[in-house]
Amino acid sequence: MKYLKWNEEFLNIEVKEKALNELKKVVYQCKACDLGLTCTNKVFSDGNPNAKIMLIGEAPGAEEDASGVPFVGRAGKFLTQLMTDVGFDRKKDFYIVNTVKCRPPNNRVPSDFEKSCCNDYLSAQINIVQPKVIILCGATALKSFVQQDYKISQIRGQWIELFGEIKAMAIFHPSYLLRNHSLEEGSPRDLTKKDLIRVKNFVDKL
Ligand code: URA
Repeated sequence: MKYLKWNEEFLNIEVKEKALNELKKVVYQCKACDLGLTCTNKVFSDGNPNAKIMLIGEAPGAEEDASGVPFVGRAGKFLTQLMTDVGFDRKKDFYIVNTVKCRPPNNRVPSDFEKSCCNDYLSAQINIVQPKVIILCGATALKSFVQQDYKISQIRGQWIELFGEIKAMAIFHPSYLLRNHSLEEGSPRDLTKKDLIRVKNFVDKL
């Protein structure tokens, strides 16, 4: 994946929106893998193309497939609540995407081939949005960007540098948090809240 740093004056919000709309048209026509044959809607993005934070999830689920919007199902609602709890505004503070644009049947993990088919689209979204921070939400997103075989529990909460320019942080996926109810100090939910607070403290200073 290549990253190109643009002059911020040049890449203003109108230019970003135009570029993303053009890219969306290409994605809607995509037949690179078979996921497009079974999905109802391609799920391009949600949120603010001018946000400092891009959040990358795994893949659309049933509700995302039905609506065309990422993270609107049970896990998405939980993630949105976590964002709100730490003082973020989901619509304003995030640009949200997934490693693949189409729902894998039965919510299975997308294959390496399926992810590779979507890679240029994801790369283009990063190049257009130019986020300051990327949140890698769950193991699938982490594996798309970090070659070493880290477990999410080992690496979450740490700053990683991507493309020598962008700070990235892996966090637990909200579906995992929904299965782990504890709020105790050091529990996955507690750690994720603290990770989001670290991200917020960082972007608030930019
Ligand atoms: N899980 C994801 O990783 N992405 C979504 O959009 C919804 C659920």
